[in-house]
Amino acid sequence: MAQQWWKESVVYQIYPRSFNDSNGDGIGDIRGITEKLDYLNELGIDVVWLSPVYKSPNDDNGYDISDYRKIMDEFGTMEDWEEMLEGMHQHGIRLVMDLVVNHSSDEHAWFTEARKSKDNPFREYYIWRESKEDQPPNNWGSFFGGSAWEYDEESEEYFLHLFSKKQPDLNWENEKLREEVYDLMKFWLDKGVDGFRMDVINLISKTPGLPDAEVTDDSPYQWGGDYFVNGPKFVEYMNEMNEKVLSKYDAMTVGEMPMATPEDGKKYTNENDGIVNMLFQFEHMDVTSGPGGKWDQQAWKLTDLKRIISKWQTELHGTGWNSLYMENHDQPRSVSVFGDDQEYRVESAKMLAAWLHFLQGTPYIYQGQELGMTNVYFDDIKDYEDIETLNMYNEEIVEKGRNPEEVLDAIHKKGRDNARTPMQWTDEKNAGFTTGTPWLKVNGNYHEINARKALSDENSIFYFYKNLIRLRKELPVLIHGNYQLLLEENENLYVYTRSYQDTTLVIAANFSKEMCELNLPETLNGGKLLVHNYHDVANQLQNESNMRPYEVKVYML
Ligand code: NOJ
Repeated sequence: MAQQWWKESVVYQIYPRSFNDSNGDGIGDIRGITEKLDYLNELGIDVVWLSPVYKSPNDDNGYDISDYRKIMDEFGTMEDWEEMLEGMHQHGIRLVMDLVVNHSSDEHAWFTEARKSKDNPFREYYIWRESKEDQPPNNWGSFFGGSAWEYDEESEEYFLHLFSKKQPDLNWENEKLREEVYDLMKFWLDKGVDGFRMDVINLISKTPGLPDAEVTDDSPYQWGGDYFVNGPKFVEYMNEMNEKVLSKYDAMTVGEMPMATPEDGKKYTNENDGIVNMLFQFEHMDVTSGPGGKWDQQAWKLTDLKRIISKWQTELHGTGWNSLYMENHDQPRSVSVFGDDQEYRVESAKMLAAWLHFLQGTPYIYQGQELGMTNVYFDDIKDYEDIETLNMYNEEIVEKGRNPEEVLDAIHKKGRDNARTPMQWTDEKNAGFTTGTPWLKVNGNYHEINARKALSDENSIFYFYKNLIRLRKELPVLIHGNYQLLLEENENLYVYTRSYQDTTLVIAANFSKEMCELNLPETLNGGKLLVHNYHDVANQLQNESNMRPYEVKVYML
């Protein structure tokens, strides 16, 4: 397996709006990031993935871009950005930018031109269709609710938007558009960025003819994924992008790919003819979803998580590469979902960290995860800001007449604002995030959970992460080792090994509040204790031992 810097790296995701506000307007900004480079350096991460900082009307917090070459006013200037990049590079931190090119903003000049008339030269940058018997051209639903089509009065046709109405999908069939995308990628790579996280990149190729989706319920809008997920020309476009742009730079790529299976992962990240270095899949995030999908959160089973993770680990071993994440700006806080955000918050946050970081792949830490930040439970819908959440609430309450408490409960569990509350730096006003009024309320638990406190406590979650990051630099088995699952049927304990040359690591994690017995084959006895989240742990692995609530212990044999 080839050696690559991004295999040996740990990535830290910054959601700039919520990271650190340097000018008191209540919105995080680029200078705010630069102020915190020493903090990131202390943690020891290698790469920052920065969510979009481009010019945007912020319908979807920067994932709707109106100028790919400009910095959003609220975030600062190009000079600020250059200073930040220089600071990162001086600290040995690489920068991966977000590339959002499945869609643009409807305020992008391409779109304002395109909608002027059917024969405008930019018309073909987007996807336009005539109405079908006074209805949208097909029955596809948008990810953010309602139809995926919006009627444009001025030019009398519908345009496609898989996300919000203000995020029209770009037409990748058009070679000119593709060249524009490659140019803007070069623009940033030439400025020194070290790679891209590619937003919903496997949605860029739509099946010609845009057929109606299969009707599975009585909603007027249906899931059209069969006609745009990993579409017919997806790989062709990505090969072109690699050939024309990426192959000329030492850049890392991670593609966000909804619905990706381990088979897709193996193909798309293959070292020889893959299209990205790694991808973000969602299968493991979906273990908590019931038949009703994302907003139908249910009790989850550890055996499901094991099945999914094990498949990704074994399928990609030796040929492809995994990304490892439990949190990002679209997901709830992992300690609230997979751990315990009350009594065992610290233990479970550490357990999840170790369990994830010892898997094979590149680990991602989402801002605040290293502090064990938790979900937020606002009881007034007015406190939420996320477009997806608000659209859903509106549809469920206003259109379907559902009980508001029930809907709020779903938001508490899965809403994206859980991860977007401001970063908790100190126990001062607004958690030290801003001197102004934060754009989204801070989580009330910042007196207890904040970076200053974590930095002054050697047993904090922060230093636990720091240690995991350090170990990655020291132990080749972490990068190269194969993965084997033990105790497959156990609903409380997740135990696996990683082996490389003559080293074996045993990772035992208790995902429950129960005290559990850990019984292992005698061949795994001995070794030395490497990582643990309780104080008094045996120095050597014994084939019979106990696992306390959310305990994790890692031995090296
Ligand atoms: C995925 C991004 O992570 C999410 O935040 C965004 O809303 C959609 N793509 C649309 O860009």
